[in-house]
Amino acid sequence: MNLKNLLFSALAASLVGGAACAQAPIVIKFSHVVASDTPKGKAAERFKELAEKNTNGRVKVELYPNSTLYKDKEELEALQLGAVQMLAPSLAKFGPLGVKEFEVFDLPFIFPSKEVLYQVTEGPVGKSLLQKLEPKGIIGLAYWDNGFKVMSANKPLHKPADFRGMKMRIQSSKVLDAQMRALGANPQVLAFSEVYQALQTGVVDGTENPPSNMYTQKMHEVQKHVTVSNHGYLGYAVIVNKKFWDNLPADIRKQLEAAMKTSTSYANAIADQENSRAMDAIRKSGKTTIYQLTAPEQAEWRKALLPVQTDMEGRIGKDLIASIRKLSSASGK
Ligand code: LMR
Repeated sequence: MNLKNLLFSALAASLVGGAACAQAPIVIKFSHVVASDTPKGKAAERFKELAEKNTNGRVKVELYPNSTLYKDKEELEALQLGAVQMLAPSLAKFGPLGVKEFEVFDLPFIFPSKEVLYQVTEGPVGKSLLQKLEPKGIIGLAYWDNGFKVMSANKPLHKPADFRGMKMRIQSSKVLDAQMRALGANPQVLAFSEVYQALQTGVVDGTENPPSNMYTQKMHEVQKHVTVSNHGYLGYAVIVNKKFWDNLPADIRKQLEAAMKTSTSYANAIADQENSRAMDAIRKSGKTTIYQLTAPEQAEWRKALLPVQTDMEGRIGKDLIASIRKLSSASGK
């Protein structure tokens, strides 16, 4: 290369470098604990696609599914420290952070239908709950649905008495702890990423989750029985680090809000179908017997679990629980 060409390439490289520097994208690290092929995983992918498109590449969203970056508890600490910018933890995860009111979502049989659930998450109750995260340095952007939970174990779970003495994995939630105790089980808190192995090795006997999580973590391969109990709910809050969010250029924030709105509608639209698809896949695998509770069994489960709603009033707030009960009565369910 002669001197003229050398100078030219050096100049070109510095111009390219300078341009790349001036246009360095804003990176959003979005960490979560479930598989990509779940309602949350798919909605996160949709958000990435829309956020990057809406901002013409000024924002880059890096997705870290399946606890590749952080496990349950570490995730929230990382967000507060600004090591990741966005998460979508299950609502149960906010209790240990000190925002106990979120455990209302864990109460057994609190939502008679998705209709009532959406009245809560899309209405004033949901909004005021998200606002409680701000003093923790967190902004809540949206709720993403997953679904109602099933119970699983290596023995049939038809009646509350079948739970007696069983070690059941739960998320770290006082309400879920009380729920399992009300069934006579022995609750064990474990990170989501550890559940499969704990079931496989017998560290715990059983667990609860919506079918989409059960199937994508292959839990059905180490659980011989699943009971479709729909006894509780699992959903998420999409959250961001407040400082990061507040410092974004206003136009970018607006485009990201629009991307979040569309991906939220998408998440909520696919949740039920993804869970039915997972249930079919579990059935087809032939590894697990799926049991549908009869009406008298359902009544027994309700009798055992409904007192948890009242027992938890002191922790979660009587008025909050009452406001959801009111929506349920108004819906006629
Ligand atoms: C669990 O820990 O069971 C769930 O919260 C996992 C998830 O994020 O769906």
